[in-house]
Amino acid sequence: MSHIRAVIKGVGGYVPEYILTNQELEKKVDTNDEWITSRTGIKERRILKGKDQGTSAMAVKAVQELLEKTNTNPEDIDFILCSTITPDYLCPVTSNLICDMVGAKNAFSFDLMAACSGFLFALSTGANFIESGRYKKGIIIGADKMSSIVNYEDRNTCILFGDGAGCALIEAEENSSYGIIDMAMRTDGSGLNYLNIRGGGSRLPPQEYKFDDKEIHKKFFIHQEGATVFKTAVTRMADISAFIMEKNNLKGEDIQWLVPHQANKRIIDATADRMGIGPEKVTLNIEKYGNTTNGTLPLCFWDFEKKFKKGDNIILAAFGGGFTWGSMYLKWAYDTK
Ligand code: COA
Repeated sequence: MSHIRAVIKGVGGYVPEYILTNQELEKKVDTNDEWITSRTGIKERRILKGKDQGTSAMAVKAVQELLEKTNTNPEDIDFILCSTITPDYLCPVTSNLICDMVGAKNAFSFDLMAACSGFLFALSTGANFIESGRYKKGIIIGADKMSSIVNYEDRNTCILFGDGAGCALIEAEENSSYGIIDMAMRTDGSGLNYLNIRGGGSRLPPQEYKFDDKEIHKKFFIHQEGATVFKTAVTRMADISAFIMEKNNLKGEDIQWLVPHQANKRIIDATADRMGIGPEKVTLNIEKYGNTTNGTLPLCFWDFEKKFKKGDNIILAAFGGGFTWGSMYLKWAYDTK
């Protein structure tokens, strides 16, 4: 039986120039390089500076690089999906702005929010559009300006996050043995208390807060109960990845790369261990970017593209606020010189 597969044809990325080091954070909060490195694996993160610069500023640069690298005419793009929890505005959505800025005049676009699992959920959504046969080419973006929602007085969170954007071009290929093969996604809204940004939505709208109320002001920043999120992330990311591997008859030795969400090196190590995948097969860039939320998976593609080989079996694994989590199995479709 003939089938259409969504195949990744290229990737793009962008991280801002400004580097926020652990040493600089030592001057802001009661922390130290040794604690951050040993507990998280993070050494530095990038921060988007400049007035009136939102998530789209980084995403546009990533998409422009992708269009150039793949020699793609933006007018041939059917859709652009942007996963982000830090949109430029609530309306219009960030992907609409990106379409306009890159000249994707014939595309429809929308944003998708699933916290740190957002890129995996968006890539799955885009793959299903392609597999339907209605659309031929789409761009999936994961981008966040986490510095806009991080409280730099809270040592529990400010050491973890950074800014960045990545993207992938997916195209329809008939009867291909490459591309996105399988995915599984889950959510559990009872995770609300452990990872959230409560302010700004319809439960705490702007007309109900006063900026001089410190407790309310805090609700506009990311809040996390790290230990609970850590434990839940380890089990759920590993369980769902093991499920995808079993469903597709894959053992650790059949996998060339694990591309995990970059929240904490210890979570990544535990997931890889559970899947029977050695550390040499795990994409890791958390030490230089921190957790860029929606940016982590596509920035791993961007950094490791040259190492991926045509035909490599790749497992993506993500976990984030919500809670949301998921895994995807894909076969890489090209070599990079
Ligand atoms: N510097 C120094 N000490 C710190 C610190 C910092 N930046 N942040 C917290 N601490 C302290 C705590 O106050 C606590 O002190 P206490 O024992 O005196 O109360 C101690 O270190 C241990 O805190 P704890 O939260 O138990 O540390 P941890 O080993 O769980 O590491 C995280 C904290 C945040 C790194 C870890 O929980 C984590 O990575 N969680 C999940 C992150 C994640 O996946 N988030 C997003 C999902 S996408």
